[in-house]
Amino acid sequence: MSTRIGVGLIGVGWMGRLHARAYRAVSEHYPELDALPVLVSAADEVQANVDEAVQRLGFARGTTDYREVLADPQVDVVSICAPNLLHRELALAAAAAGKPFWIEKPMGRDAGESADIHDAVERTGLVTCVGFNYRNAPAVQKARELIRSGALGRITTVQVRLLADYAADPRGALTWRFLRDRAGSGVLGDLLSHGVDLAQLLVGRVASVTAATETFIPERPRPSGAAASHFSAGAGAPGAVENEDWAAMLVRFGSGALGTFEASRVAVGPRAEYGVEVYGTQGSVRWSFMRLNELEVALGSGRVDQGFTTVMASAGFGDFARFQPGAGTSMGFDDLKTIEAAHFLRSVLTGEQRAPSVADGLATARVVAAAEASAVDGLWHEVPPPVGRTTFDR
Ligand SMILES: NC(=O)c1ccc[n+]([C@@H]2O[C@H](COP(=O)([O-])OP(=O)(O)OC[C@H]3O[C@@H](n4cnc5c(N)ncnc54)[C@H](O)[C@@H]3O)[C@@H](O)[C@H]2O)c1
Repeated sequence: MSTRIGVGLIGVGWMGRLHARAYRAVSEHYPELDALPVLVSAADEVQANVDEAVQRLGFARGTTDYREVLADPQVDVVSICAPNLLHRELALAAAAAGKPFWIEKPMGRDAGESADIHDAVERTGLVTCVGFNYRNAPAVQKARELIRSGALGRITTVQVRLLADYAADPRGALTWRFLRDRAGSGVLGDLLSHGVDLAQLLVGRVASVTAATETFIPERPRPSGAAASHFSAGAGAPGAVENEDWAAMLVRFGSGALGTFEASRVAVGPRAEYGVEVYGTQGSVRWSFMRLNELEVALGSGRVDQGFTTVMASAGFGDFARFQPGAGTSMGFDDLKTIEAAHFLRSVLTGEQRAPSVADGLATARVVAAAEASAVDGLWHEVPPPVGRTTFDR
């Protein structure tokens, strides 16, 4: 008989709704887990979102007080999808309640909060998951396999770009994402953290960093309602944007490879161009979220036919075959979250940390912290070696 796993959700916004869909999809795509996620209780501070969770997402009950979710004996695991300012409070409360949790990135508002979350989990031994969904793309998994097999030779350089336009319109509302006390950093935590996780997954730990940041749109209109998302237009008086719109880093990996990173939330043109390129002495790979199902591969330096070939994801790529029976049939963003949910639930069922853990979240937060410090003093900053149950180095 399937193992029932009672799910609690805190924060019924963009990500909260996606977590709910991902839990619902797991038992179909991962039958061998024999897991039956049951949507038990959802919390949001906005009553309309609570109603949505119960009436449309399938939760048995809802509340405006997250403590009720954590105290619910039928809730076995918790998804933390509230704005960043609540992550530390919610994660520590979930750990104290003994509930394994799946927390959205960035884990804390800064490296100190991320360390607090990591330490609370380590004290309890709970398994966790951090929402670094891009690592689940089957083409990224194939890229990792190729890199680890040695097919690219010695990795020399890595290029990571995360260019989005979600904040390019200055009429966009001054939501929690632009306020330091609610979000922490800006595009560093929001987008570049995904790129750091991808790069560390593919090439290993980032050892030192120098960075620059800029805020190009210093003011935005305040939101008109509590339920504003980062796609809403603002209607209120202008307020100051308190964190960076753009960031770039030059990094040294522990392996000796070098990397360049750029992230923007105000790029006009790229909609969500999140990509990673890895270059080695014998070959290279390139992947972009805009072409989720493709991997560009170049193998064999010095060949007359040298150059990139585009390979469509197929059964040999990560978890592709669990979603599509035929090569070339596209997977989507939601599927990456279903894979993440499956990794999380597998960790819960086996007790073995399989999903990106709070140690991975802390490792990324420390790279971001080094970048923030470098953006202030212009110097290179060392990143402390990862601690705890990281998964990118396994
Ligand atoms: N993994 C990804 O690709 C990805 C993408 C987008 C967002 N995120 C992360 O997900 C988190 C949520 O982002 P979002 O875009 O879903 O935001 P959102 O603003 O759409 O949703 C946040 C929800 O939390 C609710 N909330 C606020 N205070 C609360 C409280 N005290 N108790 C319960 N609910 C409360 C809000 O009412 C809102 O419904 C953030 O940490 C963000 O960085 C990750």
